[in-house]
Amino acid sequence: MEHFYTKIEGWFRAADLYRAMVAEANEPACFVEIGAWKGRSTAFMAVEILNSGKRIDFHVVDWFKGSDEPAHRADVDVRAGRLAEVFFVNLAPVRDTITVHAMTSVEAASLFADQSLDFVFIDAAHDHASVRADISAWLPKVRPGGVLAGDDYGVFPGVERAVRELLPGHANPAWPIWTYRKARPSARNRASKSITSTRPRMRSAT
Ligand SMILES: C[S@@+](CC[C@H](N)C(=O)[O-])C[C@H]1O[C@@H](n2cnc3c(N)ncnc32)[C@H](O)[C@@H]1O
Repeated sequence: MEHFYTKIEGWFRAADLYRAMVAEANEPACFVEIGAWKGRSTAFMAVEILNSGKRIDFHVVDWFKGSDEPAHRADVDVRAGRLAEVFFVNLAPVRDTITVHAMTSVEAASLFADQSLDFVFIDAAHDHASVRADISAWLPKVRPGGVLAGDDYGVFPGVERAVRELLPGHANPAWPIWTYRKARPSARNRASKSITSTRPRMRSAT
């Protein structure tokens, strides 16, 4: 399918990262995008996944109310309460390939099992407290070796502060994207874990 995301209004600067995540995904994989607005980034990822032919579940989270930012408050579709409607019209060509969760980021995180996600991209509210809450909610959901990432590092001070506080070792592959690859357990830890788990259980003395 040909890309159509450029016809959709929005802020999307992660095309290289989205492409790379699809390329490296081992099937079956599960991706989550938080913050869809009118669907520009979502449309890009949905078409990339379709064209890859890979089995990648793609979940999208947005409460479709915008945020406190001036561009959101001034937007005609937000003011008219029709952000969700516009999103679904824009995504019609790929609607069957995505699962949409119209709720807050933190609520949606509780729908996913820990260590079950290959890629999570955060682009919701950009104040420090919200980004901290998003990272704290979604980091446990990423599998070891998976990637948590987001937009607006160096654009909104709260984003950079929260990422620096919670994700030491994060990277900035291209402005203004931040990425964090969750460590896999080392071979040594894995070995000592399997030794522990094969030990017979001791009864506690009563
Ligand atoms: C910067 S926009 C996303 C831009 C989008 N990725 C694009 O390609 O244009 C941020 C979006 O996050 C949503 N949002 C803000 N806070 C949220 C929250 N706490 N939970 C879920 N969605 C939220 C807003 O409704 C808005 O649509």
